[in-house]
Parts: sequence; structure tokens; C-alpha cells
Amino acid sequence: MENELAREVVPHGDPIALFKAWYDEARTTELNDSNAMALATATPEGLPSVRMVLLKGYGADGFVFYTNGLSRKGREIAANPNVALLFHWKSLRRQIRIEGHLQPVTAEEADAYFHSRARDSQLGAVASDQSAPLDSRETFLARYESVRDRFDGKDVERPGHWGGYRVVPAAMEFWHDRAHRLHERRRFERGADGDWSSTLLYP
Ligand SMILES: Cc1cc2nc3c(=O)[nH]c(=O)nc-3n(C[C@H](O)[C@H](O)[C@H](O)COP(=O)(O)O)c2cc1C
Repeated sequence: MENELAREVVPHGDPIALFKAWYDEARTTELNDSNAMALATATPEGLPSVRMVLLKGYGADGFVFYTNGLSRKGREIAANPNVALLFHWKSLRRQIRIEGHLQPVTAEEADAYFHSRARDSQLGAVASDQSAPLDSRETFLARYESVRDRFDGKDVERPGHWGGYRVVPAAMEFWHDRAHRLHERRRFERGADGDWSSTLLYP
């Protein structure tokens, strides 16, 4: 048994390829929203906040999500582009942590994603003053209906403040549940040359 526990199950190499392998597996095992990730932001003073968002694309250049740029997270991001992401797949007992900085996606990318969403979701995105105080659900519904009428028979226009962000990873850490709580952690860091190196960490 000792030999089995000494064997590494988290490979070195390319962390983006490893992310893909785990994510593909999670898509078949997770009950819902296998693309859900916690996004941590912080004010320039270092006050943190965290919320879930959905991963809408990824690759060697980063991890993409979409949101309202005037929301609390949007305002924090505008003042401080350093963020962290967290995936936790209960069905796999695995966690991936990502740290990096944000870049906005292009207007073309944001338009393409916005218009790929269901029309109701597009209308909802226009109608929502995300993170602002709301006096009643009726107010929100009335705004939604007015936006729906405004775009009746037309394409819904993506609001300029609604868009996507790409988290460019500087570090990624993979956590794998192992027997006797002798879990396995491997942290990858990207050097100035863009190459990744990694090390095991005590769990
Ligand atoms: C599973 C899940 C996925 C979510 N995905 C998104 C998302 O992709 N974009 C988004 O703006 N909000 C998403 N939300 C809502 C956010 O968690 C949050 O309530 C909202 O963005 C406002 O956050 P803020 O006030 O910190 O800006 C999601 C919530 C959950 C529970």
C-alpha cells in the first residue's frame, strides 16, 4: 500500500492539458454546472470578495467568463486586475486553483458570445443593473418587459458594459484526493519566458 501512495497521479508537463483532462472528466461526472468556478477579486486596498461565474472558453491564453462590467466584480476588476479562480468538482474530489491577471476579450468575441445566448438571457443582461440595490422584483420585471418591447423584432444589442474577461494564468495548482488524507498537490508557475515549471506541495 505504501508504494501505491508514493506513486504520483498528478502529472507534470502542461497544466492547460491537465486542466482539459480533468475538466473533460468533470463534464461527464458532475451533476450540473461543471463549468462553474469561484472568481475572487479584491479592491486595490486588498479587501477580497468572491462569487461563482461560468467558464465559457479556455486555452493556453487563459480562462474566459462573461459579466457586467459595472457590477461589483466589474468595478473591482477595473481597479485591480489580479484575480483567482477555483474549480471544485465534488464528483471527482478534485480542486484546481488558478491565479493571474485579467484582460478584456475583444468586442467581436463578446458580441459572438452574447448573441449565442438565449434571447431571454440577452434581454435579462440588458435589463439587469447587476449588483445595484433593487427596490422590488416588480421593478426588475418592468425593466425586463420594457427592454423586451424595445428590441421587439430586432437583434438585442449587447450593452457596452457587458463583456468578457480572460484570466491569464501565472500559477495553477491541482489538488487530488488521496487515501488517508495524504492528498496530492502540484503547483505550476509560469516563468518570464512563458514556460511552466512545477513542484509538489505538502497537502
Ligand atoms: C453557478 C453560478 C454561475 C454563475 N455564473 C455567472 C456568470 O457567468 N456571470 C455573472 O455575471 N454572474 C454569474 N453568477 C452570479 C454571480 O455569482 C453573482 O451573483 C453576480 O455576478 C454578481 O456578483 P458581484 O456583485 O460580485 O459582481 C453565477 C452564479 C452561480 C451560482
